[in-house]
Amino acid sequence: MAQKLRLGVLASGGGSNLQAIIVNAAAGKLDAEVVVVISDVECGAQERARKAGIPAVVVDRRDKARYPTREAFDEAVLEALRAHEVELVCHAGYLRMMTSKLVEAYAGRMMNIHPALLPSFGGPGMWGHHVHQAVLDCGCKVSGCTVHFVTAGTDEGPIILQRCVPVEEEDTPETLAARILPYEHVLYSGAIQLYAEGRVRIEGRRVRILPKPA
Ligand code: GRF
Repeated sequence: MAQKLRLGVLASGGGSNLQAIIVNAAAGKLDAEVVVVISDVECGAQERARKAGIPAVVVDRRDKARYPTREAFDEAVLEALRAHEVELVCHAGYLRMMTSKLVEAYAGRMMNIHPALLPSFGGPGMWGHHVHQAVLDCGCKVSGCTVHFVTAGTDEGPIILQRCVPVEEEDTPETLAARILPYEHVLYSGAIQLYAEGRVRIEGRRVRILPKPA
């Protein structure tokens, strides 16, 4: 069997997207495996990684003695990714702004999931409930989720996959987030599998999904 794609997941929160990737990989639905989970804070994702027997690394953002600058911090992240021979980096609720060094090191090999339909409702400050509140404030009738490649601009990279989810009359940021999250879990693994199959080609701002070889 061909070697599995080696995933490094960056996460700062509960880690439900991480969990979905772990479950799908274990079920043989992905030609990929999570080889390391890296966080900037002790969090649920770290816990989930440990439970699954996956190396869990905290590069503590509050440890200014070890990581006095953003560059030093990202150097430590990069070191962990390289030590585990990561081929594709998956952001799954990673809340730390990155330096260009880290972004460039994995250009075209780093994905993120965002809980809205980019290019709307993305960018600095657009995370968690802020995203869903902004969607509701604009009176949108649909929202959704987006998997995209990571580039220097926050949430600006080429879009790989999107899924539309309806906004309901009585939605709050919490109910909308809860409706979107299960779709995120499916979408992210879908994008990872396409990448693992070599079917994702970046053409400028666009991502072309190549057909399955006959
Ligand atoms: C998800 O909504 C994701 O789209 C966003 O952060 C959230 C992470 O949730 N980037 P979880 O930690 O995977 O449960």
